[in-house]
Amino acid sequence: MPHNDPGHPGAIAAVLHRRAQGEIAVSALAVVVLAAGEGKRMKSDLPKPLHPVCGRPMIDHVLSTLSSLQPDRIAVVVGVGADRVCDAIGDRARTCEQPEQRGTGHATLCALPALEGFAGDVLITYADIPLVTVETLQALLDRHRAEGAAATVLTTVVGDPTGYGRMVRDDSAAVCAVVEHRDASPEQLGICEINTGIYVFQADALRRALQELTPENDQGELYLTDGIGILVRAGQKVAAVATADPAEVMGINNRVQLAEAEGIARDRIRRTLMLDGVTLIDPSSTFVDAGVTVGRDTVIGPGCHLLGATTIGCCCEIRGHVTLRSATIGDGVLLRDHTLIEDSAVRDEAQVGPFSLVRGNSDVGRGCKVGSSAEMNRSRLGDGSKMQHFSYLGDATTGLDVNIGAGAITCNYDGIDKHPTKIEDGAFVGSDTIMIAPLTIGAGAYTAAGSVISKDVPAESLAIERGEQRIIEDWAERVRRRREERGLA
Ligand code: UD1
Ligand code: CA
Repeated sequence: MPHNDPGHPGAIAAVLHRRAQGEIAVSALAVVVLAAGEGKRMKSDLPKPLHPVCGRPMIDHVLSTLSSLQPDRIAVVVGVGADRVCDAIGDRARTCEQPEQRGTGHATLCALPALEGFAGDVLITYADIPLVTVETLQALLDRHRAEGAAATVLTTVVGDPTGYGRMVRDDSAAVCAVVEHRDASPEQLGICEINTGIYVFQADALRRALQELTPENDQGELYLTDGIGILVRAGQKVAAVATADPAEVMGINNRVQLAEAEGIARDRIRRTLMLDGVTLIDPSSTFVDAGVTVGRDTVIGPGCHLLGATTIGCCCEIRGHVTLRSATIGDGVLLRDHTLIEDSAVRDEAQVGPFSLVRGNSDVGRGCKVGSSAEMNRSRLGDGSKMQHFSYLGDATTGLDVNIGAGAITCNYDGIDKHPTKIEDGAFVGSDTIMIAPLTIGAGAYTAAGSVISKDVPAESLAIERGEQRIIEDWAERVRRRREERGLA
């Protein structure tokens, strides 16, 4: 099934294939993610690594891309909001605490315990660079290894380098140093080749460089970037790889950049879906979270939001303005306009909507029809069942081929507790039936339209509960007379 994970499964498969073919040298690799900073410029109570891009925390994007490199070790340096960041990381990485935020060099020093006894290459990246792809990281590693460098910096050329560290090169274009924006001379400020914040270091070279860092800069911090100049001055080989697409390596420091990254990531997801055989009628108004899967020949109308852990099968028709939040949609499903499915499943060939709401772990069985403005909450509709317009099922379970008439509802809540309703195979619930739970309607039973049903209905029977109809023959004439008496037209 096509998949839009930002780690690009196609690309990951290609990298794994090249590795299996022996085209990629497999030497030991450790990766370190710096995620301890305060993220001041976000002006947020939420730690920066947890700000979502396409529905998933930034740190998730970084970790899922890094895991495709199959590193031998993976460590994340945490600090501000450590508890919450660690929760988001789970067991995907070892975490190292940076108790005080004294700069990216200091943060890397805090990761050294995770590198104990490690002799290979160390890829270092920041938690605020969520869009980088596995191809770019692999290209960086390939170059680093081919050059036999002590360190290799991933760089890019941008139109506006404000805020980024500048790549200072000598006359022969060899890397001399990285100079931070706030420490740069007017001449250096004019340099448009920037440090992306992604590097590979040979482990021992990294340890040596970190020992020599000093806080002699505008912020009084230990900068990892100073390690580059330190290695160059020690006569070690430092290489640089320029990546062509600056958008991929943008750092997110504020909410404007967050929105920009969101836009880029959404575009990528939409492109991947379309290239995998999904029709998006209006891509620009279609919002798809990272990790959502959609089968081929599914058509998605304008204004749809496919969010969270949503999966959609093949050959579905998702009409305009449908929202799916952690929904499981089978094959050949028709979701009519303005439908919302949340934490629930709709099985193959079923139809829902328009304007309907299915939520709370509900399940719409194969071939079912849920009509307009209907609602299901914590309920299951057995295969082949129909639930007509304006009906409501809460805490209800139906068997196969049940018919729930228009306007029929369960009264599942008595103000204190919620109670179940069971409607067995083939039952026919008449329009506007009020089902007072707890209640069982037996197989093949009927309820008469407009009945208030509060007692179990035996299989195959009819339950009817409503007053006899009275006819008052001359009612209209009486009203006309009264209006005339009052002088009304
Ligand atoms: C950094 C680089 C800059 C580069 C840019 C790319 C340094 C000194 N500068 O600048 O050259 O162009 O990224 O986006 O590295 N962090 C910690 N502990 C700290 C400080 C920071 O873990 O004490 C983490 C942050 O959580 C963040 C990352 O390091 O994920 C980068 O920190 P940030 O303050 O965003 O650095 P920039 O100013 O963007
Ligand atoms: Ca940054």
